[in-house]
Amino acid sequence: MSSVIKLRGNGVTRILKSKVILSPLAGVTDKIFRKLVRKWAPDSLLFTEMINATSLKNGYGTKKINQLESEQGPIGVQIFDNRPFAVSEAAKLAEDSGAFLIDINMGCPVKKISKKGGGSALIKDPLLAAELVKRVSKAVKIPVTVKTRLGWDNKEENIEDFLLNLQDSGARMITIHGRTRKQGFSGVSDWDMIGRIKEILEIPVIANGDIKNPNDALNCIKITKADGLMIGRGILGSPWKVGEIDYAIKKLNGFREPSIEEKLLLVIEHLDELIKEKGNHGLLIARKHISWTCKNFKGATKLRNNLVRAINADEVKELINKTIETLNKETKLLR
Ligand SMILES: Cc1cc2nc3c(=O)[nH]c(=O)nc-3n(C[C@H](O)[C@H](O)[C@H](O)COP(=O)(O)O)c2cc1C
Repeated sequence: MSSVIKLRGNGVTRILKSKVILSPLAGVTDKIFRKLVRKWAPDSLLFTEMINATSLKNGYGTKKINQLESEQGPIGVQIFDNRPFAVSEAAKLAEDSGAFLIDINMGCPVKKISKKGGGSALIKDPLLAAELVKRVSKAVKIPVTVKTRLGWDNKEENIEDFLLNLQDSGARMITIHGRTRKQGFSGVSDWDMIGRIKEILEIPVIANGDIKNPNDALNCIKITKADGLMIGRGILGSPWKVGEIDYAIKKLNGFREPSIEEKLLLVIEHLDELIKEKGNHGLLIARKHISWTCKNFKGATKLRNNLVRAINADEVKELINKTIETLNKETKLLR
């Protein structure tokens, strides 16, 4: 297995020095969260949340691709839409903003999106899916990739032909979440099937689904022989997880998971950044992240319950700082 992933675009070649990639996660992988993940994962490709092609031209989405070139390390922009012209235009804007590559979403199961023909609905329309890849690949110089699932309703739909067609149309890398659209998040990600797909494609294949820790990652690589791995839900509340898995894949020793105090200080740092960027709305977003992080230590449940009632950022910080003090006192007593 090569130690890097090489992606040749339409004039620009991209080299990924890490095989561990952060999933696009709507409502999660914004610029502020990516900055946290980056602390532990300097080389990893991190994705934006999925962005609708139209919104990239008129406001809301524009913010999501603002100054990607100023971020440390590679950032992929994921676009969802089924109109080749609109996606091509959006891809050009993302390229100009410093995107490392463009990914087309062909896996999202959300009805609002698939009803309009985007996301996983493209699996049912292989000609349009191929046309999208062709047109976007011509419009930009950077590599164009696709993230998809194993099928729409079932795995017998010949996803292999669908993917070979995308490869022929110019896709430079395929990420496969090992479930069908019908499965949503139920059942388990079918790493065996991802392995069979890996055997027939020439472009890099990234395995996705149910990789939550270094052990899962090593097992998944063994089964799929994939060129890389994508981490989704495993990052929620654990922004160090992509870096931790990257360490394991590179067989490096010495990764140290943050202590509880460090995790709580990270939560405060995250909250401060969110408030600075988004005002009071930042507190709403922070609550979600805080409840994911504040788990599995003594006093975590009490802290979470109290945090729900906190009405502003100062109260949240006070509660967290008190928890740190209590934890420190208890550790001293134990010594
Ligand atoms: C909160 C959340 C948001 C997601 N947003 C996106 C998205 O914007 N684009 C996408 O392709 N997949 C999205 N996904 C799917 C993930 O990228 C990933 O494919 C899926 O969670 C399986 O990987 P995992 O088992 O590591 O979580 C999302 C999943 C979750 C849980």
